[in-house]
Amino acid sequence: MNSIYNRCSVRKFKQKSLEKSEISQILKAAFCAPSARNAQPWYFIVTEDKEKLKELSDFSPYAKLLADATLGIVVCADTDCNPSLDYCQQDCAAATQNMLIEAKELNIGSCWLGGYPNEDRVQMLKTYFKLPENIVPLWMVAFGYPDQEEEPKDKYKESKVRYE
Ligand SMILES: Cc1cc2nc3c(=O)[nH]c(=O)nc-3n(C[C@H](O)[C@H](O)[C@H](O)COP(=O)(O)O)c2cc1C
Repeated sequence: MNSIYNRCSVRKFKQKSLEKSEISQILKAAFCAPSARNAQPWYFIVTEDKEKLKELSDFSPYAKLLADATLGIVVCADTDCNPSLDYCQQDCAAATQNMLIEAKELNIGSCWLGGYPNEDRVQMLKTYFKLPENIVPLWMVAFGYPDQEEEPKDKYKESKVRYE
């Protein structure tokens, strides 16, 4: 899959809304992820509202680019599905990576915006969306059609692999 090799974080976006079908495909990819005990402990909050994206860009000092995005997805853990937030986090990370790859397949740019385990960022999202106790917002992903050159980095390092 070339999208795995060609994906890179995109931080500048065209101001053109994504197609509903594209958003749906990105979400469907998330749900394909593996999860511990197949608990599927994820929950997604999807917004295209520019005013909300601007407000949410304050959830972290490194999330300013969200104000430029045309779609934001908050990736949440549902601890009713798996009470271990550690497992939820791993499962939700797998779901997030699927979204990044599927977005690339559709020529849509994306950038993962870290939240958990920073408590202030998690709390800000929890309060903003008035979430119940079991829904823990972990991080966000910004999406949009790229408005920048995409330069995937060559990160392969043979020295980090040990063959037995
Ligand atoms: C857990 C995680 C948190 C990240 N948080 C941010 C962030 O807050 N802001 C940002 O601009 N990029 C963020 N990134 C993107 C990384 O900076 C990026 O993936 C890394 O520099 C490698 O570049 P690449 O995605 O282009 O391969 C995050 C990535 C991960 C996996």
